[in-house]
Amino acid sequence: MEKRELLYEGKAKKVYATDDPEVLLVDYKDDATAFNGLKKGTIAGKGAINNRVTNYMMRILEKEGVPTHYVEEISPCETLVKKVSIVPLEVIIRNISAGSFAKRFGVSEGIVFEEPTIEFSYKNDELGDPLMNAYHAFALGLATKKEIETIKEMAFKINAVMKDFFRKLKVDLVDFKLEFGRLSDGTIVLADEISPDTCRFWDSETHEKLDKDRFRRDLGNVEDAYKEMMKRILGE
Ligand code: TMP
Repeated sequence: MEKRELLYEGKAKKVYATDDPEVLLVDYKDDATAFNGLKKGTIAGKGAINNRVTNYMMRILEKEGVPTHYVEEISPCETLVKKVSIVPLEVIIRNISAGSFAKRFGVSEGIVFEEPTIEFSYKNDELGDPLMNAYHAFALGLATKKEIETIKEMAFKINAVMKDFFRKLKVDLVDFKLEFGRLSDGTIVLADEISPDTCRFWDSETHEKLDKDRFRRDLGNVEDAYKEMMKRILGE
């Protein structure tokens, strides 16, 4: 597969065309941002960790019957993925209160929910990714009702698979963000990444944060937390 022109550069990844019109190449960067790009930095080794962790999770999910955009990991920071048109929704699942949920509702972090919650935000940096409900998404034509239903079902299934997987690694899966895309035939597949950038991971015993909150909140040992998660997930 031949790497061709840069199509898009985001905050954490670059996306290139390839000689196959149905396949793109994603290149993960060490750059980190938070608060819609206001805080900027680098996390050494993050690109490779997020690439490998994402692909590992995508392969597990595929085995469990969740369709994803994953094709093949081709280098430490580069992966081939199926070309999709991204549904412009950030889909957030929460098992334990934290982050913007705790802030919005004035509750402490660490409340374990009886049932997971789901929320959507409109993927729009200019507007700061505002929270929206499914009706807002239909009204704006971001997705059809059927697509939203499929996305919800897939997101809860992904949560069930991931919760079980991380429990065995002595990690509490607090919350995470997913993105979905449409293949050229309209099939909805899981896209983007699943990594310490997009999930909150707490050590089950010590409750130590092992994710990007260490960067967002200046907690130190950011690189160590990413490495620790890679070690637990990939065993190295
Ligand atoms: P929040 O509590 O800040 O809304 O974040 C919920 C989850 O979503 C958390 O695991 C981090 C992840 N997330 C992203 O992946 N990208 C983002 O831009 C934001 C705000 C959160």
